[in-house]
Amino acid sequence: MNWQDDAANILLANDRDGHTVPTDGLYPFQWSWDSAITALGWLTFDEARAWREAAVMFDGQWDTGMVPHILFHGDSSTYFPGPDVWGGGQRIPSSAISQPAVWATAIRMMYEAAKDKSLAEASVQTLLPMLVDYHDWWYRDRDPDETGLVRSFHPWESGMDNSPAWDDPLARVPPVDWEYQRRDLGHVDSSERPHKPEYDRYLYLVDFYKKNGFDAKRIYEGCPYRVIDVGLVAILHRAGKDLLALCRELHRDLDVSGIVAGLEGTTEAIHSLWSEDDSCFLNYDDIADKPLPFRTTATLLPLFAGLATAEQADRMAALIEEWLSASAFGIASTHPAEERYEPQRYWRGPVWLHINWMIADGLTQYGFHDLAADVRAATKKCVDASGFYEYFDADSGKGCGGGSFSWTAAVALYWLADD
Ligand code: DGY
Repeated sequence: MNWQDDAANILLANDRDGHTVPTDGLYPFQWSWDSAITALGWLTFDEARAWREAAVMFDGQWDTGMVPHILFHGDSSTYFPGPDVWGGGQRIPSSAISQPAVWATAIRMMYEAAKDKSLAEASVQTLLPMLVDYHDWWYRDRDPDETGLVRSFHPWESGMDNSPAWDDPLARVPPVDWEYQRRDLGHVDSSERPHKPEYDRYLYLVDFYKKNGFDAKRIYEGCPYRVIDVGLVAILHRAGKDLLALCRELHRDLDVSGIVAGLEGTTEAIHSLWSEDDSCFLNYDDIADKPLPFRTTATLLPLFAGLATAEQADRMAALIEEWLSASAFGIASTHPAEERYEPQRYWRGPVWLHINWMIADGLTQYGFHDLAADVRAATKKCVDASGFYEYFDADSGKGCGGGSFSWTAAVALYWLADD
């Protein structure tokens, strides 16, 4: 057996009747951006199953258009906080925040790569109105003042939970005043996971949404954590462009005016986040009204969105080259020279395959083909060294977090497999 078979077997083992869990035990439900990346892996060997992954996710879409970051398809005692703590969801119990909106990008890639064109076309036709509602939701509820930059209310929404960029805005959030038992530490060593003070605040925010009846306006105005997350903004923007391309081809009757306006707004507003000193786009604390000066991989993702000017892209490519030279295993999630860098701890340094893919894709768009190939070759070493973990120690390549991980297997199948 080669590692492509191993990767496919991970998706098969993590399949739960139409949705894929990121990994058994640690993450026993359907996570939105995991699911989108995982669908790309399914497409390489089971197209019908790939489309089903998307359909099941969008079954859990809220009436507002929001696609929750977790769909709780059942109960599980191996994860906390579960559906009872979140208290959200309409057709399917869910969390009350979203996650980076990579779905439309994944759907476009799947549509273009699919061999069964009639299945692909029928699936995309069904998904497009829901995707448009989802993107409209981002612009309407998360950028009500039409600044061009959507806001995020939780580090979990970034998908990059424990990034050093969120430390200071999160520290202002009060801790919860009730006791709880974390389940993640039963699966993963505590040196690879967030600390308790962070969890106390993650949970305060979960309570806050529930106490405010999940009301978009009340949360926007009163949430003690509100940031502009460059990763989230960039992934939404790229997905918006992919969505428009699909609508033009397959569903010209849909009203995409909100998305067109959102894309125009971001194209202009993103430049307010550019840092001459850092050669990247900085995340922003929207409550303290100041930039968050940490070079994390989120700050590079405007390349993936095509939002950087040619001159900015040149500067970012030089930064990426230097960043990559600090680790043999791909681009570390926090620049290794940052004081808060920890090579093994969740989003404070380890390498994630799908983020390295996004950066390489962005480099390719701007013509940096050799550097993109270097990113890919370095990333591949993670899998060669350690297999299919959730993330990889940026210094040693050791597998960290959950094992037999769906999105790692999926990225290996669709990005790393063909040499
Ligand atoms: C977790 O529980 O660690 C998840 O990342 C939340 O989405």
